[in-house]
Amino acid sequence: MNSNSSIPTLLCVVGARPNFMKIAPIFSELKKYPQVVRPYLVHTGQHYDAAMKDAFFNQLGIPEPDMDLGVGSGSHAVQTAQVMLHFEPVLDEVKPFAVLVVGDVNSTIACGLVAVKKHIPLIHVESGLRSNDRYMPEEINRVLTDQISELLFTTERLAEKNLENEGIAPDKIHFVGNVMIDSLLNNVKKAKPFYETLGERGEGLKLPIKEKEYAVLTLHRPSNVDDPETLGRLLKAIAEISLHLPIIFPIHPRTQKMADEAGLTELLEGSRIVVLPPVGYLEMLGLVSSSKLVLTDSGGLQEETTALGIPCITLRENTERPITVEQGTNTIVGTDTEKLMACVKATIATGGRSGKIPEYWDGQAAERIFSVIREKML
Ligand code: UD1
Repeated sequence: MNSNSSIPTLLCVVGARPNFMKIAPIFSELKKYPQVVRPYLVHTGQHYDAAMKDAFFNQLGIPEPDMDLGVGSGSHAVQTAQVMLHFEPVLDEVKPFAVLVVGDVNSTIACGLVAVKKHIPLIHVESGLRSNDRYMPEEINRVLTDQISELLFTTERLAEKNLENEGIAPDKIHFVGNVMIDSLLNNVKKAKPFYETLGERGEGLKLPIKEKEYAVLTLHRPSNVDDPETLGRLLKAIAEISLHLPIIFPIHPRTQKMADEAGLTELLEGSRIVVLPPVGYLEMLGLVSSSKLVLTDSGGLQEETTALGIPCITLRENTERPITVEQGTNTIVGTDTEKLMACVKATIATGGRSGKIPEYWDGQAAERIFSVIREKML
């Protein structure tokens, strides 16, 4: 398996869709130094559908994983436990000098826990983000992963303060910028034009969809979609918003399933809402870049819209990415539908917030990360 055992192996983990754009620039940076480090990629299989995985690997130029654990979906306990069980023998065989995890999904904490119990140092990319909302599964994953990490890479200055408040030694923390923005800057010129992604779907609408005259919607947080009453209330508001601005909605499998089960899909059948299956990275980049505004409960999109200068309205009560509000284009409206309508109307009328690009969101985060790893661990 290890063709040249004298070169130390860094094992990198991905599991779910938002991990892929974070690992891509790190992996390509590591590949530049074949005499120094051997990158080894594990995909846990948390996201497995072609639309949730393959499209991203292909478009982002991520090589096929060296190992796919094939874990799939399940409750939090089942999914986390399955990742741990399948990951342990891989560590025994590969014997990396460190394990690198990104973000805050179940695969992140599961692999992190296995690594540290085997005394293999853990590196966490995107450390220190806090929503201070422990009902969010990702918040538990973030806090715990940071506690057991040896090297913690942050995307914004406040993250460092959060970590120090939780007792993490300052010399473990490195502010390097945002690898997701590395991916965005590497790919923005390759973004697929929105009209190609819409294809024939757009032509069935009463109004043709034009550049900068539509909104993009994403919705998948359990707190927004798992309760039929909340999901129904949000989708009614979305249907009303679509009367002011057509909406393109690439729907997450979790949301599709909940809407089907709760009999809510007819709310999405208005002639000014285009529901698409999950789209690839370049398709999403194209849809967002040409939109007037984005409505979302995603963490990553709050950052991507800030980097692109597109107004973002976040359908959550809090954010773990406050810099997108302080400096970027993000407005947190929560799920109160009156506030949401007021914010959408104001954004349409004024053009919304323009914001500025946060420090170190410059396309060089992966380079900074490898230079710290090299200095500290190689
Ligand atoms: C996970 C992450 C979340 C991230 C999101 C991005 C956790 C706790 N949550 O949430 O932080 O924002 O990914 O998408 O790790 N499914 C499919 N095909 C797939 C994968 C999932 O149909 O390839 C469906 C299954 O019905 C599954 C459901 O989506 O049960 C939820 O998937 P899961 O990975 O558990 O969580 P996400 O909601 O995707």
